[in-house]
Amino acid sequence: MCGIMGYAGPQEAAPIIMDGLKRLEYRGYDSAGIAIGNGTIKVTKAEGKIVNLEALLEGEPSNGKIGIGHTRWATHGPPSDANAHPHADPSGEFVVVHNGIIENFQAIRDELAAHGSEFASDTDTELLAHLVAREYDGDLADAVRRTVALSEGAYAMVVMSTREPEKIVAVRKISPLVIGLGDGETFLASDIPAVLHHTRDFLIIEDDEMVIVTAEGASVETIAGDPIDRAVTHIDWDAEQAEKGGYEHFMLKEIYEQPDVITETLGGRISEEGTVWLEDIEFDDAYIAGLDRVWITACGTAYHAGLIGQEIFRRVLRIPANVEYAHELRYADPIIGPSELLIAISQSGETADTLAAARIAPEHGSRMLAITNVVGSTLSRYADDILYTRAGPEISVASTKAYMAMLIAQYLLALRLGAARGTVDRARAQAVAHGLHLMPAAIEEVLRREDQAVVAAERIVDAEDVYFIGRGLDYAIAMEGSLKLKEISYLHSEAMPAGELKHGTLALITEGVPVVAIITQRAVYSKTISAIQEVKARGGKVIAVAYDTDTEIERHADMVLRIPEMNDLLAPVAAVVPLQLLAYHVARLRGHDIDQPRNLAKSVTVE
Ligand code: M6R
Repeated sequence: MCGIMGYAGPQEAAPIIMDGLKRLEYRGYDSAGIAIGNGTIKVTKAEGKIVNLEALLEGEPSNGKIGIGHTRWATHGPPSDANAHPHADPSGEFVVVHNGIIENFQAIRDELAAHGSEFASDTDTELLAHLVAREYDGDLADAVRRTVALSEGAYAMVVMSTREPEKIVAVRKISPLVIGLGDGETFLASDIPAVLHHTRDFLIIEDDEMVIVTAEGASVETIAGDPIDRAVTHIDWDAEQAEKGGYEHFMLKEIYEQPDVITETLGGRISEEGTVWLEDIEFDDAYIAGLDRVWITACGTAYHAGLIGQEIFRRVLRIPANVEYAHELRYADPIIGPSELLIAISQSGETADTLAAARIAPEHGSRMLAITNVVGSTLSRYADDILYTRAGPEISVASTKAYMAMLIAQYLLALRLGAARGTVDRARAQAVAHGLHLMPAAIEEVLRREDQAVVAAERIVDAEDVYFIGRGLDYAIAMEGSLKLKEISYLHSEAMPAGELKHGTLALITEGVPVVAIITQRAVYSKTISAIQEVKARGGKVIAVAYDTDTEIERHADMVLRIPEMNDLLAPVAAVVPLQLLAYHVARLRGHDIDQPRNLAKSVTVE
């Protein structure tokens, strides 16, 4: 996720673009840059937050009435001045900013290099600038069209050129893009809040559309070049709503971003057949074949993602896999050896406990693989191998989309390791890949059912305790559902394997006590039903999370939160969403500060 901003009009472009980039900084903040057209195109960029770019521009202001800008959240190449956008072709006449991922990056780079191209950065974006320059034969829009045809992936790209200095050409392929219509001036941005103080009239660009922007307005076309008559959308959100994209809280916005996050995490990494490529993983097939065990370490929600990983790795790799809380692993005198891989999972990559646990790997001669959302984070710098989750910045303290991306990353890793170990055959790899590719649509479907979670929230909002149960992967999801609920609603909750209930906690189940039962794993279905019956017999109220196709559950549960039918191995990805929504709505009904719950911080940098 990155932020894109553009302007064409009668005013100086640089201050307008800088202002927009600051409003988009939540989308990425590891580097930023602007390109301003004034006969030539002047590019200024800096690693770090936008203040660094601002400081540069104070010394050397850029004058011109047209320009584009970008705030980055790295995917290809670490944050640096060179990797910051905009990127230009060698002549400097074609300049590009871009959000998203070019999946056939390596093939394009190899092809350009074979024809003598040299590159100034590690990014996929720079390749787009090279391609547009190569494809240009007098019409910038046509050159961009041909470039899009050569570039696979989910992205938004924005191009300007000295050859056609009055226009900006942009394309949306999944990554968001809006056009703000002013009076004799036109704005382009990744989202509406960035320009809402300039105009309330917008053209929303859809997937596979191109827009040509000038000071006079914007024309929308299909990528093939057919004109589109896009109606103007008038926005009447207030400034605070606008920052949250119209959602009441960042948490809800981030829950709704999850289908896109899945697309980003998968982008360019998995084929329809289930072949996986992971760009920052250095180990080879011989190392994978010799692995005896996988360790996972993390805290909080990342630990819960690790619980899922543990089960997936065991099932797919057929070797032991253990997840340990990072703060426990460090002092547990663990027996880790060179043939064991330690996976450290952390959204921020800065959690002190996780960093300390990750350091155990080199002490024992084993490799450490980081699964993290933040490029260049401390954890990524410690790591031998890195799997970036690409969830984009997460603002709400309660983690949702970052958790989702951690799950998807682990499925990819399991397929990659399983292929090398020969434990995943073609049919299984293909089935998992198919399920993953369908997942964004499945999550959209779950989100459309938010009203079910509202009803469930109304039923438990006044409870004193809530219990979450499940078995296997469902238990791992129960853990995450319970944590989500307690951290934002302040309602006491506990999660346990469904089979454990009868060994003690059942004493607390009395008339009306709510129990959330996750029941997606067919191999243990009847066992979870038994636990539900134990609860019902004591007067407990059961809210189940189950597949659409499960008709049996209605006979046992008081209410069912439904998810689409899918492969049980992938079910956690969908099953967590109703639980996120449930926690959110309980906290909302209780009137809490959802994005910044009491006593908690987004990143816990003390042990
Ligand atoms: O940045 P990390 O993933 O390492 O953070 C770990 C936990 O502190 C974090 O997941 C925490 O549990 C969240 N507040 C959960 O929503």
